[in-house]
Amino acid sequence: MRGLLTLKDLSTEKIMELIKYALKLKKGFRISYPDKKVVTLFFENSTRTQYSFQCALMNLGIKVVDFDTQLSSIAKGETLYDTVRTFEALGVDGVVIRHSKDEYFKELENIKIPIFNGGDGKSNHPTQSLLDLMTIYEEFGKFEGLKCCIVGDILHSRVAHTNIEVMRRLGMDVYISGPEEYNDNSAEWIPLDEAVKTMDIVMLLRVQFERHQEKMNITVEEYHEKYGMNSKRVSMMKDNAIIMHPAPINRGVEIADDVAECEKSRIYKQMTNGVYVRMAVISDALDGNL
Ligand code: CP
Repeated sequence: MRGLLTLKDLSTEKIMELIKYALKLKKGFRISYPDKKVVTLFFENSTRTQYSFQCALMNLGIKVVDFDTQLSSIAKGETLYDTVRTFEALGVDGVVIRHSKDEYFKELENIKIPIFNGGDGKSNHPTQSLLDLMTIYEEFGKFEGLKCCIVGDILHSRVAHTNIEVMRRLGMDVYISGPEEYNDNSAEWIPLDEAVKTMDIVMLLRVQFERHQEKMNITVEEYHEKYGMNSKRVSMMKDNAIIMHPAPINRGVEIADDVAECEKSRIYKQMTNGVYVRMAVISDALDGNL
């Protein structure tokens, strides 16, 4: 399969090449694919991933074919494979997919056009991790030896699972923190008040209320008090340490309202970088390199 499905398929050299290409695009380098069309198939809600892919496609001069699951033949029972195979037959040059099923792309092995994974279940969110890495690289100019703590709903988070794997490969020390019921032991767990004093990056995760089978056994106020980033915790951070969050953010839950846009927050920079990372990935795939 072509495109970008999981970062596990990419070497650290290829990841660095994509980050550097995204930085070049951010500095103004332009490349255009005016005869190409790409469809965005989002089976789960999305603002950042869906629309930053669309902005990236527009910046590359590519036509965006929009897809509404409610108005499509998905509602008549058409499968994901037959939907993607149809767009391939229609002459579309690539497809962006977000789906709740883990590794949905295993059903699409016969598809020849590039597939760009916009998130699958709890498993992969490769372009989110690339934009996180680009933001970290812009900040620190390296990965080796940096300490990052990912805080919150690790268990349900494809962002955490993708980042833990790739950050370790890049030489970072990755820790997790937050409520015990969300600890899946994917990294060493440390208390948040220790993490904020020692980390270079504190990456907060959204509490994913929509994925929980049962309600959290604490209130959102208690969550914020125990595991949320507030101004007191920000004041404990190292001078050059930063706060990241893939967003959407629950203000007042995992992050205080005034912290979301404080001097240490890189949340909106992450969103900006997402456009350039997605331009880099799409361009590289259309050039036959992914
Ligand atoms: N970060 C992220 O994936 O956001 P969306 O769900 O809005 O795409």
